[in-house]
Amino acid sequence: MAFFAVLLAALAVQQVYGASTPRRRATCAGGQQVTNAECCAWFPVLEDIVPNLFGGECGDDAHGALRLTFHDAIGFSRTGGGGGGADGSIIVFNDTELTYLANAGLDDTIDAEAPFIAKHNVTPGDFIQFAGAVSLTLCPGAPRTGFFMGRAPPEAPAPGPDGLVPEPFDNVTNILNRMFDAGAFSPEEVVALLASHSVAGADTIDPTIPGTPFDSSPSIMDTQIFIEVQLKGTLFPGPDPGNGEAMSAVAGEMRLESDGLIARDERTSCFWQEMAGNQSRMQEQFAAAFLKLGMIGHSESSLIDCSDVIPDATPLPDNAGPHLPPTLDQADIQQACATAAFPTFPVLPGPAETVPAIPQS
Ligand code: HEM
Repeated sequence: MAFFAVLLAALAVQQVYGASTPRRRATCAGGQQVTNAECCAWFPVLEDIVPNLFGGECGDDAHGALRLTFHDAIGFSRTGGGGGGADGSIIVFNDTELTYLANAGLDDTIDAEAPFIAKHNVTPGDFIQFAGAVSLTLCPGAPRTGFFMGRAPPEAPAPGPDGLVPEPFDNVTNILNRMFDAGAFSPEEVVALLASHSVAGADTIDPTIPGTPFDSSPSIMDTQIFIEVQLKGTLFPGPDPGNGEAMSAVAGEMRLESDGLIARDERTSCFWQEMAGNQSRMQEQFAAAFLKLGMIGHSESSLIDCSDVIPDATPLPDNAGPHLPPTLDQADIQQACATAAFPTFPVLPGPAETVPAIPQS
C-alpha cells in the first residue's frame, strides 16, 4: 500500500510539474546554455536549416515553412472532427493530405523539409513548428516566437476530404468558425495570424504568375499587408483572376478574397486597422497567436519549452516605415471600421510601382 501511495504521489508530481517544468540549466555541446538539456538537440538542426534549407533569407523556402506550420496544425477539430493538430501528419501522410485542395503547393516545402527531419531524427510535428519559428527570425520585423518540443509522431492523416484548412474563397463566418473549432482562436487572433501574409505570396491561385506577393515587401514582416489590403482594388496581377482572388491595388501584387473580406468585416475590421502601422502591436499579437497555433492537439504542460534555441529576431530596416504605395493616397483607403478612422500614412514618392515576383527556389 505504502509503495503504491509513494508511486502515485510521484506520478502526480510528474503530472503537475509535467515535461515543461524547468530543470537545471544545461550547457550544450556547442557551449549554449538552455533550460532543458533535451533542447540541445535543436542547435545542430538550427545550424543546418538556416543556411541549407533557407539560404539564410526570408525567401520562398522561409515562406513555405511558415505556411506549413498552419496547414499541419489546423487539421484538427475540437468538436469531434478528428485530426491530431500540429503533429506532422501533413508530411507523414502527405499521400492523403496533399490531395486536399487547400494544401496545393505545399509539396515543394515538404520535399525540402523531409531530408532534414530524417537527418536529425526529430519528429515531423516538432520540426514543422521549429522550422516555422526559425524562418521568422530570417524575416526582418518578425517577432521572436517560442518553440516547444515533444510532439509524438502522427497516428493518422487529418480527416478529409478538404474542409479543415480555410480556403481563400471561404466567407468570413466560415473562416472564423473553423479557426475557433480548431484552436479556439478569437477573431482578433485570426487577424493577428494573418500578419504572416506579410511574408507570403501565391503560386497556385494563378499558376501563370507563381510567387506573386500579397504585399509590396514580402521579404520583411512589416504591417504593409494591413494597409495595402485596405486599399480599393483596381486590378488583377495576372491575365485571369484565380479562385479566391480579389482585385488588388498595386500591380504585381495579389489580394486573397479572404484577406480582403476580413479587412472589411465588422467583426474583424477594427482590429485589422489597429495592426496597420503598429509594428510592435502586430509582433506581440502575432507571436502569441502563432505559439497557440503550434499547440493545437497538445498542451504546454505536455511539451518542453525550448524557446531558448530560437535566435534573436531581426529588426526592420530603418527605411521600412509604414506608407501608402506611390501615386495612391488616403482617399484610396476603404474605411471599414465603424468606430475609428484608418490611420494616415505618408505616400511613397515616385511612379506607380509593379511589385516583382518572389524568386522561386
Ligand atoms: C485563415 C485563413 C487563411 C487563408 C484562407 C489562407 C490562404 C492562403 C493562400 C490561398 C495562399 C497561397 C497559396 C499558393 O497559391 O501558393 C497562402 C499563402 C501563405 N499563407 Fe495563408 N491563409 C490563411 C492563414 C494563414 C496563416 C494562419 C498562416 C501562418 C501562420 C499563413 C501563412 C501563409 C504563408 C507564409 C503563405 C506564403 C507561402 C509561400 O509563399 O510559399 N496563412 N495562404
